[in-house]
Amino acid sequence: MHSVRWRAVENATLRDAHARLGPIICLGPEEVSVNCVRGGIREVYAGGFEKASSARGGYNWYAFFSNYRGVDNMFSMGCNKAHSLRKRMISNIYSKSVVTKSPVLLAQTTTIMYDRFLPYLETAYRKDAGVLNIYTLLSAATMDIVTGYIFGLKASSNLIDKADQLVWFLDLYNSRRSYNFWPQEFPVFSSFVEKWLGYKFTPAFVSEANEEIESWTARMCEGAGLVVAQGVVEPADTPVVYQQLYTALAKEAKNSDVEEVELASLLASEVLDHLAAGFDTSGITLTYAVYELSKHEAIQTRLQSELRTLTPPLVPSSTPALPDPKAIDALPLLHAVIWETLRLHSAIPGPQPRFTPPQGCRLGPEEDLYYVPGGVRVSASAGLLHANEEVYEHAYAWRPERWLELEQLDEEKRKDMESRWFWAFGSGGRMCVGSHLAVYQMKYIVAALYSNYSTSFLDNTGIEQIDSYTAPPKSDKLMIRLEKLPRVSVVD
Ligand code: HEM
Repeated sequence: MHSVRWRAVENATLRDAHARLGPIICLGPEEVSVNCVRGGIREVYAGGFEKASSARGGYNWYAFFSNYRGVDNMFSMGCNKAHSLRKRMISNIYSKSVVTKSPVLLAQTTTIMYDRFLPYLETAYRKDAGVLNIYTLLSAATMDIVTGYIFGLKASSNLIDKADQLVWFLDLYNSRRSYNFWPQEFPVFSSFVEKWLGYKFTPAFVSEANEEIESWTARMCEGAGLVVAQGVVEPADTPVVYQQLYTALAKEAKNSDVEEVELASLLASEVLDHLAAGFDTSGITLTYAVYELSKHEAIQTRLQSELRTLTPPLVPSSTPALPDPKAIDALPLLHAVIWETLRLHSAIPGPQPRFTPPQGCRLGPEEDLYYVPGGVRVSASAGLLHANEEVYEHAYAWRPERWLELEQLDEEKRKDMESRWFWAFGSGGRMCVGSHLAVYQMKYIVAALYSNYSTSFLDNTGIEQIDSYTAPPKSDKLMIRLEKLPRVSVVD
């Protein structure tokens, strides 16, 4: 398994192994992979298996995702107790009801769509014959929306308009990829070698890139703090996540010995994780939605007709306003396109490791149940669960229709598809906190693009997803050409 991980062929190896050996496999002396719901993800993830193992000296694969030299965040925390305290501080502001009803988020998204995203597309259309790398634009748009919600519009990023900052950020962010093997798989060994033998497994530029991203985030935190101190004037400038997290952490700090500096880094580490988790995954999913829609012209045309039913339409106007989030959310084909893309091109298709509890557990389907001792690394992968032919017929085909045909299925089959086996956002206590924000922004972005343009490929070499935990396109690009749709008349 170490060699498999080192060579970055883990997802492919697990796929072949499960196809040959069934839903539960022993991968090594202390490691198991599960690819089933009952006796699999239900036990491990809904059952609250921890990310860290006391039997393994506290080893936690996710510790790598802490920021500011080891300051934990919700994602990196190994222990469920500390994690649930943190999650309780913020989960309500990411809930579906708050996200879809938030006037602040709607105002932020309106500005980002009408003042940045659509003008960017218009410029690409006029100046570059409609040719652009849509992957970078989508990454910029998702970063602007996620940081907008965290820090408020005034203090957040504007990567769509600031091309140099976008290049700067993506270079830093992507340069660190593929240097995670040693610190994640052998954290103690690699830090020992680094400290005592002076050998670094990770090049210096990776730590420098991390530090630059951390400073950038700290500046956004300071900006948000300033807006709060001076009093928010425009609703869109409200730093929703920052403000709530600050209040909750400060309250917690009062009851312990946490100093102001520590509080600032706890906060910054937390929000840095949200912005990284939020922009990257949504940008990847959107890129594959555009890829598939460009490949399936008939579905693209049907989507455009569906989008024309929106009021107001999502087209440039002198009085820009977005259709209601509920109206966007209720569009069946748009929903099906996003869901099918999340299924087939999961942004996190790779294994999500947890550890069996000290007393051990039983894993596997009823007819094939195994005792697994405590402290064993156990994982499931969205990429494998989503490829189950019994649940998703023609699983390797992109078929949004499957989500439109749910009504015709019996209840059990529908539940299998919609919830039991659909794992793009994980499940249980450590499930994605930002899933509703992700869906919200992805639907608006796809709606804005296809209300105004058609897309086709220009160059899709390297579009295959890398074999990794998070899986962007190999080439980091998808070159497309835009064709303008006939303008819908808007009554201002
Ligand atoms: C298409 C978009 C997204 C996908 C596919 C996705 C997927 C996931 C998955 C699978 C996990 C669990 C990972 C694991 O345990 O190994 C997760 C956790 C997380 N995600 Fe997302 N995510 C998305 C968007 C977002 C957004 C927009 C945010 C912004 C707040 C976000 C923030 C987080 C955080 C903070 C966690 C850790 C939660 C915890 O440990 O309780 N994600 N995400």
